[in-house]
This record gives sequence, C-alpha cells and structure tokens, in this order.
Amino acid sequence: MDNIYPGTPGNIDKAADIIRNGGLVAFPTDTVYGLGANVYLPSAVAGIFAAKERPLFDPLISHIADIDFLPEYAQTDQRVMDLARHFWPGPLTFVLKRKDEDHRLDLVCSGLPNIAVRMPNHPLALALIRTAGVPIAAPSANRFKTVSPTSAQHVKDSLGDRVAMILDGGPCRIGVETTILDLTTKEMVILRAGGLPKEAIEAYTGEKVILSQGTPDKPSAPGQLLKHYAPRLPMRINVAEEDVRADEFFIGFGPVKKARLNLSPAGDLQEAAANLFAFMREAEKHNEFKGIAMSPIPQNGLGLAINDRIRRASYREK
Ligand code: TXA
Ligand code: MG
Repeated sequence: MDNIYPGTPGNIDKAADIIRNGGLVAFPTDTVYGLGANVYLPSAVAGIFAAKERPLFDPLISHIADIDFLPEYAQTDQRVMDLARHFWPGPLTFVLKRKDEDHRLDLVCSGLPNIAVRMPNHPLALALIRTAGVPIAAPSANRFKTVSPTSAQHVKDSLGDRVAMILDGGPCRIGVETTILDLTTKEMVILRAGGLPKEAIEAYTGEKVILSQGTPDKPSAPGQLLKHYAPRLPMRINVAEEDVRADEFFIGFGPVKKARLNLSPAGDLQEAAANLFAFMREAEKHNEFKGIAMSPIPQNGLGLAINDRIRRASYREK
C-alpha cells in the first residue's frame, strides 16, 4: 500500500478528516515525524500506543498551533507564556500541570497530573492541526524503542500500513526530538535534552536550568528508558578513529579520515543532529559489519541531545 502523500492542500484536508474521525496520520515536524491522533478521542489515542507497541505508562505530547490556546489547555503562568512566546513555534516541549476537568486526556497523560505540550515549527504540521481543529497527540512515528523517523520513508519502513496516511514534508530540519522542559516546579528541569540547546533557555531566562539525571528504573520523563533509541547492530560510542575495529561501521564527526559516514566533517552540531538518525538507520543495514562505532561528540549545545541518544542506542542489557 502506498500511504505516502505529498503535503498538498487537498491531502491536508484529507488527513485532517482522518484525525477528526479517530484515525492515525503521520506528519513532519521541525524535529522528527510524529504519529498523530485527535487528543480528545481516547480510542484514537489508544491506536497510537497499539501501532507503536508502546507501553501505556509512557505519555504523549500534545501538538497545538496557537499559543493563545495554551492557557485553555493547561495551567500556565507568566513564565510559561513568556517562554512560549519566545521559543514557539520550535523544538521545545513544556510539561505543565493539567487542568483537571478533562478526563478525555487521561490516556494522553498516562494518568499523570501533568501534560506535555508543544507548537511545532513546520508549516505542514501547523496546517494539519489548524484544519483538524483539535490538538494532535503525537509521539515519534516509529515502533517503540527504535530510532525516530526523520523522513516519510522512515515512517513507512517502521510502521507500514499501521498508519492510514503519511504526509511527506521531506527530511526534518532539526533531526532530534524536542527538548522537554518541566515547568511544574520552581526550578526549570530538562527531562530530555533535544533540539533546543539548554544554553538558549538559560540565556533567555537568565536562570540556571537543571538537567535531570533520569535513572533507568525511574525515568523522569517516562520515555527516558536507558535502551530506547536502538539500532539493530551493537554500537560503541566515544571511539577514536585509531580504535575503530575492522568489523565496525564507523560513523565519524569532525575531521576524521576513515569514516563510512560523517555526521559533520566540519564539526557542526546542528548538521550532526540532522544526520544522526538517518545515519544510524543506514549503518544498521550493513550486514557485513558486526557493530557501529561512533566518534566522540562535544557535550555542549545540541551535543547534549546527540550524546543522550547515542548513549541509549549503545546500551546493552547485561
Ligand atoms: O520532537 C518531539 O518531541 C517528537 C515530535 C513528534 O513532536 N515527539 C516525541 O514524542 O519525541 P515521544 O512520545 O517519542 O517522546 C515524548 C516524551 C516521552 O519520553 C514521554 O515520556 C515524555 O515526552 N512525556 C510526555 N508527557 C509527559 C508528562 N506529562 N510528564 C513527563 N514526561 C512526559
Ligand atoms: Mg519516541
């Protein structure tokens, strides 16, 4: 079945109808592709968990297209609205206290008292949400514990015909998921490093942002399980070029010579983030290799998100 559709106005209308009526649509965002459903239809939201084979304790992000809608949807204050006006649309998700009236959102929130919300910076995503007329719940459009999709074809490879329609917006510009910022406490806590650097939030607010140290048993964002972004081949990280083994597929960063793929020969972290998941997918196709080796990545800016993803991808149960 060919379920990839270009993002024409007609196809956006069709996709919005599917969402309104309780079906699933995959769509591009600035970060990665999402698998969307109408947040107000618990049966549709349940369909997301089923298609991904995702456990129900792992809550979903709601995608909205209008900042002014946020106070209707979640509890906000001046700090939240200032951050939203500054960084939205963009690669930043807020965790906020729920308005407790609406039990239709229980499944989206996995029963937690908090809700995750974002406004994606992608014209197709925004058009889809506006046309559907409801917030869209969307995790990354891949099966649970696999690498997030950054193209329509990745979605199709992972979910096949479990999704009615995949809107094609080309490759995602940022390439790693959003930064998740918990605003339910006095201090701001990053639950997941992502497409918006910690430094950018600190520069704007003038406050220190805490990076949560989720443990594998008790992840603070429930989705932050240690083994999460797994490629099929075992992966070693922080490997210097001279230590790469002959049977390893080498993904480089910066001025290395023998990389099969290089995230960014110029050492640009933004370029590296955009390439990361596509390169991990490419590497795992190579059956002639026994593993993947990855260059060290600097731990600043988008490097936090990249290092977080590859650390999880390299995790092996003992
Ligand atoms: O870039 C992104 O954020 C993409 C695009 C599609 O928007 N979405 C995404 O969703 O990465 P997902 O489901 O793969 O990751 C969402 C993360 C999960 O780790 C989940 O545990 C956390 O957000 N999360 C959602 N609701 C939460 C809540 N109420 N409290 C704490 N963490 C929450
Ligand atoms: Mg995901």
